[in-house]
Amino acid sequence: MKRIFSGIKPSGRLHIGNYLGAIKNWLTLQDEYQCVWGIVDYHAITVPYDLIELEERVIDCAASYIAAGLDPEKSILMLQSQVKEHTELTWILNTITPIPWLERVPTFKDKAKQFSASLNMGLLDYPVLMAADIILYKADAVPVGEDQLPHLELTRKIVRRFNSTFGQIFPEPKSIISSGALIKGLDGKSKMGKSLENCIYLDETPEEIWKKLSTAVTDPQRIRRNDIGNPEVCNLFSLHKLFSTKDQINYVNNGCKTADIGCLDCKRILSDNISNELAPIRENLIKLKNNNDYLRDVLNEGIKKSKEIARQTMYEVYDKIGVTYKFLK
Ligand code: TYM
Repeated sequence: MKRIFSGIKPSGRLHIGNYLGAIKNWLTLQDEYQCVWGIVDYHAITVPYDLIELEERVIDCAASYIAAGLDPEKSILMLQSQVKEHTELTWILNTITPIPWLERVPTFKDKAKQFSASLNMGLLDYPVLMAADIILYKADAVPVGEDQLPHLELTRKIVRRFNSTFGQIFPEPKSIISSGALIKGLDGKSKMGKSLENCIYLDETPEEIWKKLSTAVTDPQRIRRNDIGNPEVCNLFSLHKLFSTKDQINYVNNGCKTADIGCLDCKRILSDNISNELAPIRENLIKLKNNNDYLRDVLNEGIKKSKEIARQTMYEVYDKIGVTYKFLK
């Protein structure tokens, strides 16, 4: 069975960008592949963070995975920092990764500006840790949102360099991109992101969702109710395409172009549809949040299983890079 690795940084509550760009796709893949879903906490600590909150975020992330439908009986749910092989393999990959490859990564350039006062090696090395996450499990495919594609391209380059330097052991992982590959925030400008105040979170109530949507940016040219709109430039229309039925999408599309419906009418339909799709996730999350024992058992079991795979890979790596010193045996 082919293998998949993907993960989410526990740096904030999960939002519909994570859901549409990643998790929703993961649900369909868990039957076809052997999947490892990571909570990648060592990536989360590359920017300033709150120590107490980190633990809550990890628990929240595990709960969100299961609440959204990931089945711990079918896949492995693991916590990156607890499988030391991730950082061990990162070190080895560091020795074959040219620094300019890392300096060119778009997210590094962005973070270097955003965190200029606390720019650290972890931010530069971020994609190498990500490459280690993936190839430690010899993953054939990685389902992610579009923002992660430069990281995956770099992973493939590192794999090619490792295989050609030391001998073929790693497959070149391909990316799997969902239809919600790049969800913009409610401001209609930047990517929806955990650290930005532009998200709809997975655990929000219908009232909270409506409150946020009612002030969300639509077609900027449509100022008055009677102005005709252009759905193709409206961020909320792209959400309709992911949450609404075909008939509703046609209704909104035509109604907006003819000004038969106003932005609030369009938002009401979208708000109801998002609330309905998130309702079971929110209910599951409430139940799971009172069940830390279960979440701990799932993660402990996942850590154990992922360690077994990781150890196997590392034995092969030690052998290839020449650190299986015979005189010590
Ligand atoms: P992270 O935590 O930023 O996001 C997790 C997943 O959610 C997707 N995503 C989005 N998709 C569409 N629209 C959005 N607005 C949006 N925001 C987030 C991301 O594309 C991602 O799939 N570096 C990774 C975590 C990581 C990882 C890995 C992923 C570490 N190691 C190994 C895959 C394989 C990250 O920061 O994702």
